[in-house]
Amino acid sequence: MSARLAGQTIVLTGASSGIGAEAARKLARLGATVCLLARREDELDAVVADIRFAGGTAHAYAVNLTDAEQTDAVTARLLAEHDRIDALVNNAARSIRRPITESLDRLHDHERTMAINYFAAVRLTLALVPRFLEQRHGHVVISSSMSTQVPIPLFSAYLASKSALESFTRSLVAELGGEGVSATTVYFPMVRTEMSGKTDIYQAMPMLSADKAANWLVKAIVDKPTRVTSLQGAAAEIGMATIPGVLTAGMRPLFRRMDRALEKRAKG
Ligand SMILES: NC(=O)c1ccc[n+]([C@@H]2O[C@H](COP(=O)([O-])OP(=O)(O)OC[C@H]3O[C@@H](n4cnc5c(N)ncnc54)[C@H](OP(=O)(O)O)[C@@H]3O)[C@@H](O)[C@H]2O)c1
Repeated sequence: MSARLAGQTIVLTGASSGIGAEAARKLARLGATVCLLARREDELDAVVADIRFAGGTAHAYAVNLTDAEQTDAVTARLLAEHDRIDALVNNAARSIRRPITESLDRLHDHERTMAINYFAAVRLTLALVPRFLEQRHGHVVISSSMSTQVPIPLFSAYLASKSALESFTRSLVAELGGEGVSATTVYFPMVRTEMSGKTDIYQAMPMLSADKAANWLVKAIVDKPTRVTSLQGAAAEIGMATIPGVLTAGMRPLFRRMDRALEKRAKG
């Protein structure tokens, strides 16, 4: 076991499945003590058992992060049980794929995505900031999406919540970067997990594995870059900074065509 993260304690949300569970295993293999947060206790315990079996150190904290009382109780425990907390990975999230025209009476879609993707992450970050300042170091990682870099349809509630968290994280570093607080935004492309599995037609789409995606979170923790992105995502950002109208109009028919092709492939 390489010990690049030996002595570090990392709090990781959304660690019961998908990218978070894989990242927890990898971070523990690098010597970190990992604190795993999510609702499903059995799944969390299974990840913790895997890590301990491999010689690592992990602790499960079952919590519904949209419940303020539960979250406050868990952060109090985290602060009491760990003398240092080196990094927080805000990875827990939910996604909703729905056209805006089918969402006219569904403001609650926005409320429930914001509840976990934005407010829960902000609540947790605010609770750990005093510790980061006291230690004079603390790294915050957020799991975002390449789709905030490219104008794509059908995910308005999800993407708005991710963009809000990106903005909060930028402010965090703008204000506290001089006092040791750093952050990385990870712009994942599509990844094969429970989240993407909820959309039938995506079964036919080539995607990153959760194992490979977890390496992006590991890079964020080890190297602490400002962002981890695909080349396509970075290129789209340049496009949006220079020719936003052209790019947005150009992507529209492309996405329609892609959805039709995926539907055909999924049926066939
Ligand atoms: N999969 C993709 O294509 C993709 C693409 C771009 C970005 N991402 C981002 O990558 C991150 C990981 O997603 P994933 O693909 O690995 O999906 P996933 O397997 O569905 O993981 C989502 C995690 O969030 C946790 N979670 C959800 N609601 C929660 C709540 N109220 N309280 C506590 N934990 C909660 C879930 O645990 P419980 O259900 O046990 O609570 C689960 O561990 C997310 O931020 C997602 O937006 C994914």
